[in-house]
Amino acid sequence: MSKSLSHLFLPAFGGTALIFAVAISFANRDYGQGRIAALETRIDQVEAHEATARQVAEAEAVRAADLELKIAEVQAAASARVAGTADLTTPAPLVEGTYGIGRPALAEEIAAWDVDILPDGRGLPAGSGDVWTGEEVFAERCASCHGDFAEGVGNWPVLAGGFDTLGDKDPVKTVGSYWPHLSTAWDYISRSMPFGEAGTLTADETYAIVAYILYSNDLVDDDFELSKENFADFEMYNMEGFVIDDRPDAEYAQWRAEPCMEGCKDAVEVTMRTVFLVETPAEGGSNSVMNHSAAEALPSFTADGPSFIPAAAVSPDEEADASSATDSAGSADDAAILFAAGEKVFKRCSACHKVGEGARNGSGPHLNGLLGRTMGSVDGFRYSGVFTAAMDEGRVWDEAALAEFLANPKSYMAGTKMAFSGLRKEADVTAVTEYLRSFVE
Ligand code: HEC
Ligand code: HEC
Repeated sequence: MSKSLSHLFLPAFGGTALIFAVAISFANRDYGQGRIAALETRIDQVEAHEATARQVAEAEAVRAADLELKIAEVQAAASARVAGTADLTTPAPLVEGTYGIGRPALAEEIAAWDVDILPDGRGLPAGSGDVWTGEEVFAERCASCHGDFAEGVGNWPVLAGGFDTLGDKDPVKTVGSYWPHLSTAWDYISRSMPFGEAGTLTADETYAIVAYILYSNDLVDDDFELSKENFADFEMYNMEGFVIDDRPDAEYAQWRAEPCMEGCKDAVEVTMRTVFLVETPAEGGSNSVMNHSAAEALPSFTADGPSFIPAAAVSPDEEADASSATDSAGSADDAAILFAAGEKVFKRCSACHKVGEGARNGSGPHLNGLLGRTMGSVDGFRYSGVFTAAMDEGRVWDEAALAEFLANPKSYMAGTKMAFSGLRKEADVTAVTEYLRSFVE
């Protein structure tokens, strides 16, 4: 049985082995072909890489040549500069041994930045200019904003006058009345004026303009010439008006003392409540003095520029004075009391309006001889359109018109450039009208 079995199985084994052998050799052939294909692809890739690398190298070579050309240009420019034909717009020369950022500044570049002028005249360029030349340049370059006589147009800054006002509540601080050093004027004008066209004045023009501003301030005569040489000799009106800040020595130590936190005062007595002091309405609302004056102090912007001189905020007790004074009208000194009250109210106008002998136009027209005069008629003042129209119509200031105007300027004269919100109290209007009545032309 076993013999017959082996007969049966052996050929079967042999057949299986043959099949295996054939299968392996087929697999071998497949493997060899796959490898060849892979190697061929690889060769293609290497060739492609080489082509790219060649292209990159060529491009680099072109760039290097370009750079070399540029370096040559820069070096040429640098040597031209050394030779004195400086052109500050050409690129900077390369300096070895640095991080490759920046380079030492050229003398010309330092000079272009180093323009500050010190009080003793250091830093001034050579040059000079006289009052007459200054008047011409000023008329052309500055007067449109600062006025022909440096008096300021509309709300643009005033550059002259104000000498007797430095001790006032609302001092008029001008170059003449306030600035302690002439160098500030030269420096400021040369750097920043004319507004919007800064840096366009020559040194001589600047000397001339500064001379003219001094003349407008009555600080020099009309034959005055300002120059680098006599600059430091000039003494400004307010040169002694500033003190060195010695608070670090004089005061700081005091503040550093231990603060008292307990039992510092024997008795405490409440004397007033803020609700009365600043007239804050108990139930809120906008009709308080605080709100009112705060609104008036906001600068307003008109075609003539911003109002740099906001209406002076009045303190509540001054207002109270005005009304209590008029309330008590009826006594013998009526007129005097009313005048005094009006004078106080007028403080709110005085930042812009002047009255009295020799009163000049400020940012508002002078108000001498107001009652009875035609609206918008002060010579040399540039009124807004609505006032010019009122003058053309021949309208005249009487008490009624003035009262209505002062109560609410913007509603009575729609479009006026008077940046003032109005007098709320009738008593104030009456008082200031009486006050103004006393200043005749
Ligand atoms: C377009 C209007 C305009 C022109 C033109 C102009 N300024 Fe001014 N000026 C101004 C304004 C606005 C200020 C205030 C600038 C500020 O406070 O930043 C000013 C400020 C000044 C001040 C400082 C005043 C102060 O007390 O602070 C001086 C000085 C001055 N100008 C001089 C000149 C001179 C000189 C010229 C002509 C070369 C000139 N300005 C041309 C608008 C002008
Ligand atoms: C912020 C500046 C400013 C304040 C504050 C101010 N005014 Fe004026 N006022 C002007 C200007 C500017 C004009 C010219 C108005 C125009 O042309 O539209 C003017 C015009 C006037 C006029 C007309 C003058 C004329 O010639 O026709 C009167 C009157 C007047 N103001 C009275 C007053 C009184 C009174 C006060 C105070 C209660 C006052 N103003 C407060 C700037 C001011």
